[in-house]
Amino acid sequence: MKIIIAENYNHMSEIAARLISKVIIEKPCATLGLATGTSPIGTYRLLIDNYEKGILSFDKINTVNLDEYVGLDFDNEQSYHYFMNDNLFSHVNIPKENVHIPNGLGNDLKGNCKDYDEILKKYPRDLQLLGLGGNGHIGFNEPGTPFKSFTHIVDLTERTIKDNSRLFSDPKDVPKQAITMGIMEICRAKKIILLASGKSKADAVYAMVSGDVTENCPASVLQLHNDATLIIDKDAASKLDRNFMTE
Ligand code: F6R
Repeated sequence: MKIIIAENYNHMSEIAARLISKVIIEKPCATLGLATGTSPIGTYRLLIDNYEKGILSFDKINTVNLDEYVGLDFDNEQSYHYFMNDNLFSHVNIPKENVHIPNGLGNDLKGNCKDYDEILKKYPRDLQLLGLGGNGHIGFNEPGTPFKSFTHIVDLTERTIKDNSRLFSDPKDVPKQAITMGIMEICRAKKIILLASGKSKADAVYAMVSGDVTENCPASVLQLHNDATLIIDKDAASKLDRNFMTE
């Protein structure tokens, strides 16, 4: 694991955007695994800036997202389909057909999971961007998820529902289930970049970096990946007890 400690959220976003831009410039037809949530929003803004300046093009890029809530229409403002359009896709020149996000709608969710695994087979990731749950989740792989998991339906934990309720006007509206890429597929990415900022992530960062590799902390699996970079700000790193590289 390579660990970069950033000064703050903006600095974290700058470092991440620089690394992702490098991947896109070196391989204009790269496949990117993408995350939603607060952590990558600043990074996406900077990637949009680079696109607007003519430094990046997304016309040959493919993307696969980590997860989606069950039961939210794609045009629901809380859905991850909406989030990705709003925060990245509608601002860059990525063809619609190159975008892949799990489908949490319909009566055959298990079938949707299988279909998504087929997509993942077809699009091996050059880079996977991750956020970190306060309970150590990656994607929506909650503590206890087998490391060998593929795309599956998840019952979200009370902690995740509570953490995500800040984004809903009525906390009761937070979906209780999601579809997520499994840990096995996340780890197949050639390169992984994980973002974490803020004190609320400090315990999870500590467990991910300094704890045992255990399914009780899904992010700890990244200790076994040969090209995982954690970009975490000082607050998120505040419980780490070793001296790590800073930028
Ligand atoms: C989102 C995702 C989640 C989030 C995590 C952190 O696609 O897979 O694992 O990355 O819950 O969320 P934020 O960034 O909002 O703190």
